[in-house]
Amino acid sequence: MIYFDNAATTYPKPEAVYNKMDQFYREFGVNAGRGAYERAKKGAKLIEDTRSKVASIFKAGGDKEVIFTPSATIAINLILQGLDWKDGDVIYYSPFEHNAVLRTLYKLEENYNLVLKEIPVNNLTLEFNLVDLEQMFASEKPRLVALSHVSNVCGVIAPVEEVVKLARKYGGSILVDGAQGAGLVPIDLSEVDYYVWTGHKTLYGPFGIAGVVVDKKATNLTPLIYGGTGSASEEREMPIETPIRYEAGSSNIQAIAGLNVALDWLEEVGSKEVFEHEKKLTLKLIDILAEFMDINLFIPKDLDTHFNVVAANFSGYKPHEVGKILDEKFDIAVRAGLHCSPRVHEFLGTMPNGLVRFSLGCFNTEEEVDKLKGVLDSFLI
Ligand code: ALA
Repeated sequence: MIYFDNAATTYPKPEAVYNKMDQFYREFGVNAGRGAYERAKKGAKLIEDTRSKVASIFKAGGDKEVIFTPSATIAINLILQGLDWKDGDVIYYSPFEHNAVLRTLYKLEENYNLVLKEIPVNNLTLEFNLVDLEQMFASEKPRLVALSHVSNVCGVIAPVEEVVKLARKYGGSILVDGAQGAGLVPIDLSEVDYYVWTGHKTLYGPFGIAGVVVDKKATNLTPLIYGGTGSASEEREMPIETPIRYEAGSSNIQAIAGLNVALDWLEEVGSKEVFEHEKKLTLKLIDILAEFMDINLFIPKDLDTHFNVVAANFSGYKPHEVGKILDEKFDIAVRAGLHCSPRVHEFLGTMPNGLVRFSLGCFNTEEEVDKLKGVLDSFLI
C-alpha cells in the first residue's frame, strides 16, 4: 500500500513505538500512580517524564501545564465545555475548523445563547483577512477565538501569532487546535491559552493519548470528567490542582509509553528535518497534480502558509469514486469526502461530496509520489 492518509493518522509509526508498546504489557503492565509498589511508582514517573517531553517539544515554559486526554476531540471539549460562558459571549472560529470544534460550539450556542462569528478568509487565496477581523473584534469583542493551526482539508497554516495579538488586544482568550501540525509546524505558545495536540498524527505516536498545553492563568475550567485521581479519595470534590483535576480515571499508560518513545524518536531525527521532508514531498505532489487539466487543487496561494495536505477535485469523478479507484486498482490510500470539516467545504463550494485528500508523512518517499503520476496518467485518460 502507498499510504497518503497521514492527516487521518501517521502510518507507519517509528519501530521504537511498536516495540515499546508491545513490551509494556509483557514486562510492565500495571496501573500507574494507584499503588505504592515499585512498578506503580515507575508508571507514575513515566507519565510525568512524558509530560515534560511534551512541554519540551512545544517549548512550553513554566507558565504552562500539560493536561493529558484520550483524544484531541476530548481536549477541545474539555476547554469549550469547561469555560464559564455568559449569555452573549462572542466566539470567533475559522472556516477551517473540524467538527470537534464546530459541533461543540453549536451545542454551546444552543445552551448559553452565545454568538458565533466566522473569521474572514478569502475563499480563493485562502488568506486570512486580518484587517476585517480587527474591525469585527472592535465592534464585537471576542471572549474566545478558536483556530485550527493547520487545516486538515487545505493544509492552510493559520497566522496564529497575528490572530493571537488581535485577540489579546480586544481581551479574548485563544484556543489553537494543533491536531494536524503539532510538533512539526512551528508555533509560539507564549500567548496561546490552550494548545490542543494529539499523539497519533504529527508526533508519530499511538492513538489514545492527546491533550492540551494550557496557560496557568487559564486553568480555571470546570472538569469534563469526574472520578478517581489516586489522591484525596475521601474528598467529594475533584482536586483543584492542574493537571490531576482534569485527568480522572486510569491513564492510558501504554499509549503514554508509546508517545514517550515517539517523542525521543522525533527529537533524534529532528522535527525540523521531518517538516522539511514532508514539505518537499508536498511541493512535488502539488507539481504532479497541477499538470493534470482535470484536477483542481484547493491549496493556499502562498505556499509558505501550507503544509502536507493537498485536497483536489477530479472533473468527471466524485471524490469517493477516485478514492475507490486508487484503493482498489492501485493500493493507494487517500481520504475522500468532507473530512469531518463541513464548514470548509461549504466555504470552498465543494459540498456535498467534498474532495479527495492526499496527505503526506515522514515515511513517504519521492518514488511513491512519482508513482502517483503514472497512476493518474493511466486512469485520467
Ligand atoms: N481528523 C482526521 C482527518 O482529518 C481524522 O482525517
